[in-house]
Amino acid sequence: MISDAMAKRLNEHLNVEFFAFYQYLSMAAYCHSKALNGFAHWFSMQADEEQMHAMKIYNYIIDVDQDVELLPIKKPTAQFDSILDCMEKALAHEQHVTACINDLAGASLENKDHATLIFLQWFVTEQVEEEAAVRDIVDQLRMVGDSGEGLLMLDRELAQRKPEAAE
Ligand code: FEO
Repeated sequence: MISDAMAKRLNEHLNVEFFAFYQYLSMAAYCHSKALNGFAHWFSMQADEEQMHAMKIYNYIIDVDQDVELLPIKKPTAQFDSILDCMEKALAHEQHVTACINDLAGASLENKDHATLIFLQWFVTEQVEEEAAVRDIVDQLRMVGDSGEGLLMLDRELAQRKPEAAE
């Protein structure tokens, strides 16, 4: 139903999403080590979402009768200069994922692979939300600056994040 070339690209993107899971788990661990447990909770929820994204692609590859190939997951970044640095790296990561999704959508359009193009629409929309959510936190951290009180307030707010309903 889809070309082998597109299946290869989807398997590569499967790896990108699993790496995102790993990276956010690493960021959650960093936040725990700094006693920023609200941030840690937020990153842990984010990691769960990335696993859900990966499983959407995994299931799609199976549905179109192609083979899933689980590639090695590279080691995530574990050291950050500050919580702002950590969140800025999360934003850069989301921007990278957006570029990967756009490339994939472009390739499916070029190949007249309408099934994959429609499948990827969900990810295109999701990336807008993901980037916006992380950008908001980066902006708030910049506003907080060196205020420990502001940071603790933000930490308490992020502790409230609830899991998204599965779609
Ligand atoms: Fe699955 Fe945050 O991109």
